[in-house]
Amino acid sequence: MKLTQFKAPFVATLAASIALFSASAIASGDVAKERQDLMKNVGAATGAGAAMVKGEVEFNAVAAQLVLRTMNNGGLAFGYMFPEGSEKGANTEAGPAIWSDRAGFDAAVNKFVADTSATVTDLDSFKAAFGAATANCGACHKAYRVKN
Ligand code: HEC
Repeated sequence: MKLTQFKAPFVATLAASIALFSASAIASGDVAKERQDLMKNVGAATGAGAAMVKGEVEFNAVAAQLVLRTMNNGGLAFGYMFPEGSEKGANTEAGPAIWSDRAGFDAAVNKFVADTSATVTDLDSFKAAFGAATANCGACHKAYRVKN
């Protein structure tokens, strides 16, 4: 049998299971868990970046770029992880302002994406980019995250 004969049904099944997965993830509050895992990953990247900035770990341009890239990818996905109905679940710390001031939240996400898109080549350029990137953490948390 030719491969092409499998393709169409396979793709349709795959698409259906992805759709089912997202629907159940949203309904069960798993999307809150997913965005927390994403933020944990951003937090881990920030820790690695801070160690280089402080000189605790030797600067490495590839690792430094990966730190910014991890933040940037996180930012790109993050804005889509707050559907209606995910205000609760997974003990979320997402603040109510995300839903009452979505334009402000989207602007904060977009600023984070912009501030993490730099290309770095040496420690000085990384320090500048890392400083600009991490200024977003506290600013957004203050406005859009609540402590449980
Ligand atoms: C645009 C807003 C925004 C930006 C920018 C942002 N965060 Fe967050 N962060 C949040 C929100 C909202 C939560 C709560 C998510 C939830 O509990 O559903 C969170 C949660 C977290 C958590 C807790 C995750 C967990 O274990 O539940 C960590 C760690 C974190 N952020 C680190 C960072 C760091 C480090 C940066 C900067 C490099 C950053 N965040 C930038 C909005 C943001």
